[in-house]
Amino acid sequence: TAIVFIAHDGTRYDIDAPNGSSVMENAVRNDIPGIDADCGGACACATCHVYVDEAYVARLPEMQAMEEDMLDFAVDVRANSRLSCQIRIHPELDGLTVRVPERQP
Ligand code: FES
Repeated sequence: TAIVFIAHDGTRYDIDAPNGSSVMENAVRNDIPGIDADCGGACACATCHVYVDEAYVARLPEMQAMEEDMLDFAVDVRANSRLSCQIRIHPELDGLTVRVPERQP
């Protein structure tokens, strides 16, 4: 499934992401700058924070309480903020575009 990362400096990364993997895992595997993922995907660090392109926000599953709580620790949280380790890739997310924030906590 094709997904796109846009780094804070505007660089675009087109990735072919395996279904079932998380958006965070694909960021780490492809060395996307600005996604630290300190906790390794356990929803316990908020350093995998991304902004989801508006066109895709409604297509993502709703946030679980744990993600919502952890997102409080992210920097400059917006309405389209998500933790990328909590977004699983599946074919309907084809073209998913996420922007990397200026910094992580
Ligand atoms: Fe730590 Fe996502 S990698 S919360």
